[in-house]
Amino acid sequence: MKILVIHGPNLNLLGTREPEVYGTFTLDNITAALTQLAAELACDISVVQSNSEGTIVDSIQAARGVFQGILINPAAYTHTSVAIRDALSAVALPTVEVHLSNIHKREEFRRHSYIAPVAVGQISGFGPDSYLLGLRALICFLRQQNKS
Ligand code: DQA
Repeated sequence: MKILVIHGPNLNLLGTREPEVYGTFTLDNITAALTQLAAELACDISVVQSNSEGTIVDSIQAARGVFQGILINPAAYTHTSVAIRDALSAVALPTVEVHLSNIHKREEFRRHSYIAPVAVGQISGFGPDSYLLGLRALICFLRQQNKS
């Protein structure tokens, strides 16, 4: 089982970016925790981070036939990107959307996600644990799907 993990814009700055909102852990810390969990769950992860919408669309398109699922924190593109949503719909790979912060208790503009309607589900508000919960949820979903 291979999972593509996608981090959107500004998540490369984790550690120094608005620590009161996002904490002080880095993207490398998240990758290390995800890699450890992936080994426990007997799956492989590949991780990409991009500040560019087009690069994220390209990564999603290239995932077809290579990965069985996508774990994505689209960051600010969550609230703006029809292109990322359409790419996810096009490849039709089961996708879990995650956010570090609880987007529903922040500014109004963060409450709407273009991605949520094409995702299996969304996990929001648990800091780095959102990614770990998201990976567990995605693997459970894929294993259930493979049984039926
Ligand atoms: C975020 C929430 C988004 O609203 C924001 O633009 C981000 C990070 C989160 O993980 O909490 O960049 O996706």
